[in-house]
Amino acid sequence: THQWRGIIEEYRDRLPVTDTTPVVTLREGGTPLVPAQVLSERTGCEVHLKVEGANPTGSFKDRGMTMAISKAKEEGARAVICASTGNTSASAAAYAVRAGMVSAVLVPQGKIALGKMGQALVHGAKILQVDGNFDDCLTLARSLSENYPVALVNSVNPVRIEGQKTAAFEIVDMLGDAPDIHVLPVGNAGNITAYWKGYTEYAADAMSTHRPRMWGFQASGSAPLVRGEVVKDPSTIATAIRIGNPASWDYAIAARDESGGFIDEVTDREILRAYRLLAAQEGVFVEPASAASVAGLLKAAEQGKVDPGQRIVCTVTGNGLKDPDWAVAGAPQPVTVPVDAAAAAERLGLA
Ligand code: F0G
Repeated sequence: THQWRGIIEEYRDRLPVTDTTPVVTLREGGTPLVPAQVLSERTGCEVHLKVEGANPTGSFKDRGMTMAISKAKEEGARAVICASTGNTSASAAAYAVRAGMVSAVLVPQGKIALGKMGQALVHGAKILQVDGNFDDCLTLARSLSENYPVALVNSVNPVRIEGQKTAAFEIVDMLGDAPDIHVLPVGNAGNITAYWKGYTEYAADAMSTHRPRMWGFQASGSAPLVRGEVVKDPSTIATAIRIGNPASWDYAIAARDESGGFIDEVTDREILRAYRLLAAQEGVFVEPASAASVAGLLKAAEQGKVDPGQRIVCTVTGNGLKDPDWAVAGAPQPVTVPVDAAAAAERLGLA
């Protein structure tokens, strides 16, 4: 009986750890790569979904957090801090518990999904709601980590990127080579940076024959990389990617340009359409921000940018249960029936 050991043990020789690094893990990674039948039909391509909502705290952040918390523990830190739109804070809170550390999280007031707030609370994080947006939270977290005894575990910490690059390794290991195109949502731009690093390292070691083109998608109201300038007051229903000044800006542009890819935007309407398609037609329930990758792929296909026959991977970054309001909103209310088979059968259209 063997189970996946977590990304540090599975990819130890490709990560900056030693025999004495304490491994703080919840057995993250090893997530499903699911063939997407409807998306494949629509695009004429072979489309796969990398379902990162299957990680222990429900998002890809766990890959970076096992590294960040393990290294912080190795260095003797007692407390960690992060700014977050919700997923990083949920992950930091959980891994801090495993490490016996205190976690502090800074979130934009009123702009994080309830499920994510619940995670930080139940794992015992010290939570401050900041009267500002994510970018303000990150400025504050950086300042606190520079002036007080607390380690920063945002993706500006390079070991976070190291952990997150393992998702690219898993994809190549599963497919036998890199895909032609990799599509993902972009917020603070750590993940697109990490995937590109992972694909680049594998290609350099001849683990793949090529690297994919990287296609990133931001929400229209929060698309600084598309506009080429900081967005002062970012807005989108996809709160996870409501970010106006991405920390990994230059790395994201490098990933785009070195891969021959592009970074574009999708509207909230397009995001919600993809969100519903994923749930209703692929059986995969994601949070709204995650659907930005699929919305982007569909937009690109409609624009004729997707040549048929290619192998495409879309990362869906977080679990739908984190933000279920969008699943319920606009859906018809379930009807109530008495404990009566005939009545139930009639309501179900079986009779
Ligand atoms: N998707 C989800 C579900 C996220 O939570 C995030 C980022 C992204 C996509 C974008 O990834 O920032 O690496 O470009 N969430 C961060 C957080 C900001 O605080 O949880 P990115």
